[in-house]
Amino acid sequence: MTLKITIPGKQSGSTFSQLRLFLCFLMYCWVLADPACGYFLKNCTIRGNLSDTSNMKVLCYNRNLEVIPIAIPRKVSNLDLAMNNISKIEKLDFKGLSNLKILNMSRNQISQVDDGALGHLEALQELGLAHNRLTTLSDHLFQGLANLSLLHLDNNLIATISSSSFQLLSSLKTVNLTKNNLYNMKEVQPIVQLPHLHELYIGSNRFTSFQSQEISNTSIELRLLDLSRNPLGIFRITADVLPYLEVLDIAYCGQLGHMEWDVLDRSFLRNVNRLNLSGIEMSFERMGMVLQTVNSSLVHLRLHDLVNSSRLKIKALTDIACRIPTLSVLRLEYNNIGNLSEEFLQSCKHLTEVDISDTGLTQLSDFSFRSIEQLSALKLGHNRLSFVPKATKNLPTLKILDLSFNIINKLGCSDFSNLTELTQLIIFHNQIPNLLGCVFQDLKELRILKMGSNKILTLNDAFMNALHKLEALNLAGNKLSSIRKGEFKSLTSLKTLLLFDNQIASMEDGAFEGLVNLTELKLGSNKITQIGIRNTVLMGLPLLKSLDISCNYITYVNDDKLNPPPFSHLTSLENLRIFSQRHKGLSHLPINFLEGLKSLLSFQAGSLNIKELYPDTFIYTPRLWFLDISKNEFTALTPKLFHPIPRLNSLYLTKARIQSLDFLIGANLSRVTLLQVSKNDITVVNETVLRSLPALTYLDMQDNAFTCGCSDAWFVQWIESDNQTQVVGAGEFTCNYPADLKDTKLLDVELQFCIVRLGLYYYISTTCLVLLTLIASFAYHFLKWQVIYGYYLFLAFLYDTKQRNKHTPHGCQYDAFISYNAHDEPWVLRELLPELEGEQGWKLCLHHRDFQPGKPIIDNIMDGIYGSRKTICVISRRYLESEWCSREIQVASFRLFDEQKDVLILVFLEEIPTHQLSPYHRMRKLVKRRTYLSWPRAGVHTGVFWQQLRLALETKDGSSEENPILSGVQAL
Ligand SMILES: *[C@@H]1O[C@H](CO)[C@@H](O)[C@H](O)[C@H]1NC(C)=O
Ligand SMILES: *[C@@H]1O[C@H](CO)[C@@H](O)[C@H](O)[C@H]1NC(C)=O
Ligand SMILES: *[C@@H]1O[C@H](CO)[C@@H](O)[C@H](O)[C@H]1NC(C)=O
Repeated sequence: MTLKITIPGKQSGSTFSQLRLFLCFLMYCWVLADPACGYFLKNCTIRGNLSDTSNMKVLCYNRNLEVIPIAIPRKVSNLDLAMNNISKIEKLDFKGLSNLKILNMSRNQISQVDDGALGHLEALQELGLAHNRLTTLSDHLFQGLANLSLLHLDNNLIATISSSSFQLLSSLKTVNLTKNNLYNMKEVQPIVQLPHLHELYIGSNRFTSFQSQEISNTSIELRLLDLSRNPLGIFRITADVLPYLEVLDIAYCGQLGHMEWDVLDRSFLRNVNRLNLSGIEMSFERMGMVLQTVNSSLVHLRLHDLVNSSRLKIKALTDIACRIPTLSVLRLEYNNIGNLSEEFLQSCKHLTEVDISDTGLTQLSDFSFRSIEQLSALKLGHNRLSFVPKATKNLPTLKILDLSFNIINKLGCSDFSNLTELTQLIIFHNQIPNLLGCVFQDLKELRILKMGSNKILTLNDAFMNALHKLEALNLAGNKLSSIRKGEFKSLTSLKTLLLFDNQIASMEDGAFEGLVNLTELKLGSNKITQIGIRNTVLMGLPLLKSLDISCNYITYVNDDKLNPPPFSHLTSLENLRIFSQRHKGLSHLPINFLEGLKSLLSFQAGSLNIKELYPDTFIYTPRLWFLDISKNEFTALTPKLFHPIPRLNSLYLTKARIQSLDFLIGANLSRVTLLQVSKNDITVVNETVLRSLPALTYLDMQDNAFTCGCSDAWFVQWIESDNQTQVVGAGEFTCNYPADLKDTKLLDVELQFCIVRLGLYYYISTTCLVLLTLIASFAYHFLKWQVIYGYYLFLAFLYDTKQRNKHTPHGCQYDAFISYNAHDEPWVLRELLPELEGEQGWKLCLHHRDFQPGKPIIDNIMDGIYGSRKTICVISRRYLESEWCSREIQVASFRLFDEQKDVLILVFLEEIPTHQLSPYHRMRKLVKRRTYLSWPRAGVHTGVFWQQLRLALETKDGSSEENPILSGVQAL
């Protein structure tokens, strides 16, 4: 879980940044509340799932870490921090990891461990601190590790061990202090005194003596003591302190070719059964004494690498050792024996295992092993034998014969003829060019035959009539070029057949017939170009579970149906590997390539240069569980491809040129727990994609081309908070775009900002709404008239639209609508009406006479105005004050400039100075720019007045351009 408080930088509007800070603070609080809420750990990989505590591993090895990562899941049981650059363990580094059983911190630079830093690890059983720089083991170092049983401290610089540092490690069984700077045996005294300490490795230190009184006065529990590679000048045991010791390693000890051996009583080492005296610098006589000391219990003796000893001395030592009646294993590796004479092992009657590997053997006497009555394992590897020595032929009890890494260049018919008990024959890495039909015919009990890395060209009939019990045959790394029909006919028990790394180009039909128990067949790295023309090549393998034909030369020119399909007989096959065909790759995967593989669980088809997969490719393999189609050239896949394989659990699509994960949507992959799509060109991962994989626990998306924009914000948040899916290496995801973020880490980009921004949008819109309301109320208060006017303008507009929608042109019922105030009614009735209706014959609309009862007044006004050609406004002071009148004039003037019709005729009943018109903004403008009629000015000459009115009423409707009266109002 990473934690970031975003301090706003560039875009700091103060509200904005404060808000952002606040939201970030909220997020921070939320993160603090549950420090281990996510399944994501920077620089580490989690194995196992969060709910199963018994098995959770956190792997952080080899990541250049300099400090111990924070927020390690508390339930972890195995934590691997090896191979980093950590130099210090601090007091709280492992706080709360009370479930941890295994902690590996090997190969770091640790030189300092705070007191009590490991004390939190109550459950710890195994602690690895090897290959560090510890110099001292202090008093409180291991405090609290009451369950610790295995402690690795090898390869440090430890010179002193505090007397109480091991005090409370009551469960400790094994301590490895190999390769340190210890020189005083007293330092290890507190360790060997522990009640359960069984194994102590203190080899490769600077001890110059081992004296029993330095480590204890009473008997201790030690079972194994490794003192090898110390410059021990003396080994002295004066009391019965090691009664349980079983394994003693004093290889490569001694000082200046010299080491004293002083064990007072033979019985002090009465239980030692394994002894390593390899490379010891000790006189021959003393070595004899050593062997005498353990001569009632020794079973296993190593006498490797006695450089300074002649063959004779080795022979003499061997004689002493072989007289120990309990001895059964003698290992003489890395000595220079060269020629094994008949006498060399003459006294070794009781041995069951002899190892004379790497001793420069070129010859063995035919009877070298004759006296060994019960020899069961003979190891002659890494020598110079050019043929199977006769000495190995008559060993009826032999079970294991190892002749690997010699130069044997032929096998004869009688080479193994009397080894009827042999179960393992290892002739790996020799120079055998071919086999004879008779060579294995007597190996009736053979189970394992390893003949890899030879030069075998043909098998002849070697496996046609022998080895009925053989279970594993390794012929890898030879020169076989073809497999003939029935070549392995008699191997009816064979389970594993390894033929990889040969030159096999052709396999006859029935090549594997008879292998009725075969479960594993490896044919990788050969020259196979097709899997048989007919489909009988792989016939007769009813139990085959695993087939590997990767790294061959199989190619298809198109994806047409194969007839017959290549694997149709392999109904038990569970695992098919065909990846990496050389030359052109497979290029195309034929539609029915997998036909018949109804048991297939795992299909590995990476590096095949396939561009497309036919949607029905997997209809034959309904049980498919594991699919690796990495390193192909897909660019895109269809969801349909996955419909036939609903059980798919693991999908590997690394380096497949995938640009988007959208194909997962609707692919029905509800059981996929692992998805690896690293090294592709994916830029964005969205929620829908990941929701379509409900069981996903492991996602590897390393090395993709993230855009690092807000489109990734959801993904980043999900990585950090989802507690089911672990996104491997998420800390290393790098941005590819935009240019200024290139090579920045995705998780370091401040994308929380995107999520914050959503909140910001809400905030801004609410603010706007509030401001708008405020402005509206202010406007209403201070600009009331403009607002009211605007309102009526709007109503008029609505009316107009309504009228227009009715498609009824205003059929003019009236010549003029008279708009007047009730106070001016007498004038209207007495002067205007008689003149216009009576004298001039116009049809007028008067509200007291012509308005329809029951209709809203505003509608009546509208109908009146729009139903008349002209509107005559009879203007007086009272008229201007009246609400309805101003509405009338407004509607009329709206019509004026809405319809571009000159409908208004203004008749002033009294003189009104223009400044008094000011609240009636519109009126003032009209008056300013238009001609109008004035009753008072007419005086007694009413005739002119009425004549002007008639003219005004007679004017036709017309656009403003044509009408000189209107042109003045254009600016409105
Ligand atoms: C994570 O690993 C990288 C390199 O692998 C290293 O540079 C970085 O410091 C590590 N991160 C932490 C938090 O230690
Ligand atoms: C002890 O440490 C040495 C040196 O690193 C290593 O070779 C050996 O395998 C270790 N033994 C055990 C039992 O861990
Ligand atoms: C195999 O053993 C038999 C009887 O022990 C013996 O007669 C025969 O010579 C042996 N064969 C070889 C090749 O040594």
